[in-house]
Amino acid sequence: MAHWLLVPGILEILFYTAMASDVFMSTYIQTKVQKENAGCTYASFHHTLLQRTVHSVFRCAKLCSTVDECRRFMFDKESKECVLYESGENCLSSQDVHSMVCYLQKSVCDETNCTRCPIGYYGDQCQHVIEDCSDGIRRKLVPEKSLMSYIRPKADGRILEVKCDFKWGGYTILLYRYKGCREVDYNKTWKEYSDGFGTSYGNYWIGLANIYDILQNYHQFFLNIVIFGQTGHETSYYQMFNISTYDDDYRISLASFKDDITNPTGDSLTNGSHSIDGRPFSTYDRDFSNNDCPVRFNGGWWYLDDPVCSRANVHGKRDGSNFEATWHWLDNLGNRTDFTDIHLKLQRKQ
Ligand SMILES: *[C@@H]1O[C@H](CO)[C@@H](O)[C@H](O)[C@H]1NC(C)=O
Ligand SMILES: *[C@@H]1O[C@H](CO)[C@@H](O)[C@H](O)[C@H]1NC(C)=O
Ligand SMILES: *[C@@H]1O[C@H](CO)[C@@H](O)[C@H](O)[C@H]1NC(C)=O
Ligand SMILES: *[C@@H]1O[C@H](CO)[C@@H](O)[C@H](O)[C@H]1NC(C)=O
Ligand SMILES: *[C@@H]1O[C@H](CO)[C@@H](O)[C@H](O)[C@H]1NC(C)=O
Repeated sequence: MAHWLLVPGILEILFYTAMASDVFMSTYIQTKVQKENAGCTYASFHHTLLQRTVHSVFRCAKLCSTVDECRRFMFDKESKECVLYESGENCLSSQDVHSMVCYLQKSVCDETNCTRCPIGYYGDQCQHVIEDCSDGIRRKLVPEKSLMSYIRPKADGRILEVKCDFKWGGYTILLYRYKGCREVDYNKTWKEYSDGFGTSYGNYWIGLANIYDILQNYHQFFLNIVIFGQTGHETSYYQMFNISTYDDDYRISLASFKDDITNPTGDSLTNGSHSIDGRPFSTYDRDFSNNDCPVRFNGGWWYLDDPVCSRANVHGKRDGSNFEATWHWLDNLGNRTDFTDIHLKLQRKQ
C-alpha cells in the first residue's frame, strides 16, 4: 500500500526536476563535437578547468555554472565524463564522438555587468568586439593563453572564429596547415576561396572576403610566412600587404620583403620577373593565369600569367609525387625549402 502512496511524490519530484533542468539547460546552447586527430587537440584550446564523472548532462551543466571561468563543457553520455573549459564554442575529441555532447554557456548579465559574454564580445559589459587578433592583443581583450579568438572584421558583420598567434603584438592566422590536424583539400572553387574553408580549430583558409574586411580596418598590415621544417621554423614577412575587392578579383599588393636573419626563407613572392605583386587571385573555375595553374598547383593563388605560375605553392598537397602540385617554397635564387607545416599570418604594423 505504502508504495502506491509514494508514486505521486516520485512523479512530482521527477516532474519538478525535469522542469528545473529544462529551465536550466536553456542557459546553454548545444554546439558541435568534432572528431580530430589527437595531435590537433591544442593544449590552449583544451585547457581544462575541471574534469569529473557526473550522472548526467544536467549535472555537468550545473557544474559549469558553479565555476566562474566556465564557458563550455563536453559530456560523454557513456563514460559520464564531464569536462569544463574556459573558452571556445565547439568541442574536439580524438575519441569516438557519437556519445559526446558539447554545450556553450549563454551570456549571464545583470543590469550593468556580464559575467559571461556572448561569443565574440569582450569587456566587463560585453561592450567590445575585436577586428583582428592584433587589435585584441593591443586592447588586452583576449586571454593570451587561448589560441582561439572571435573577431568581427566588418562592423555589424558576422563574428568569425580564428586562431591567433599571441607573439609580437598578435597575428591573425590566414592559412593554417599543421600535420597534427586532419588534412584539408585545397582544390577548391572561387567561392570557397572567397568564403574560407576548413575548420577554425583544425586546418583552414580564412577566406579572401574575410582578409579583405580585416585589411579595411587599419592602414598597414604585414603578411608573415612561417615555414616549419624538420629542424625548426623560418619566418619572413612582406610589408604593405593588401588585396583589392571581390569585383577586382582580390588583386594582391606586397611591398618590401624582410627575411629572418637566423632562419631565412628567401623571397618567393616578389623578387624580379616572377613577382606576384598586382596579380588577381585564380582558382580552377576562375583562372586568370592562362596556364592552368590552379589545376597544376592543386589550389587557388595569385598566379602569374606565365608557365611558371608561382615560385611558391602553399596550397599544394603534402608529399605528392608531382612537384608542381606539392607544396613548396622556392626563393629568388632557386633554393627550395621543404616543409612539414606552414602558416600565413597577418599582423598590424606597430
Ligand atoms: C560592474 O563592473 C565594474 C567594473 O568591474 C564595477 O566597478 C561595478 O561595480 C560593477 N557593477 C555592478 C552592478 O556589479
Ligand atoms: C579539382 O577539382 C575539380 C572539380 O571537382 C576536379 O575536376 C579536378 O580533377 C580536381 N583536381 C585535382 C588535382 O584533384
Ligand atoms: C587596399 O586596397 C583597397 C581596395 O583596393 C583600397 O581601398 C585601400 O585603400 C588599400 N589600402 C592601402 C593601405 O593601400
Ligand atoms: C632580387 O634578389 C636578388 C638576389 O637576392 C637581389 O640582388 C635583388 O636586389 C632582388 N631584387 C628585388 C627587386 O628585390
Ligand atoms: C642558394 O642558392 C645559391 C645559388 O644556387 C647557393 O650558392 C647558396 O648556397 C644557396 N643557399 C642556401 C642557403 O642553400
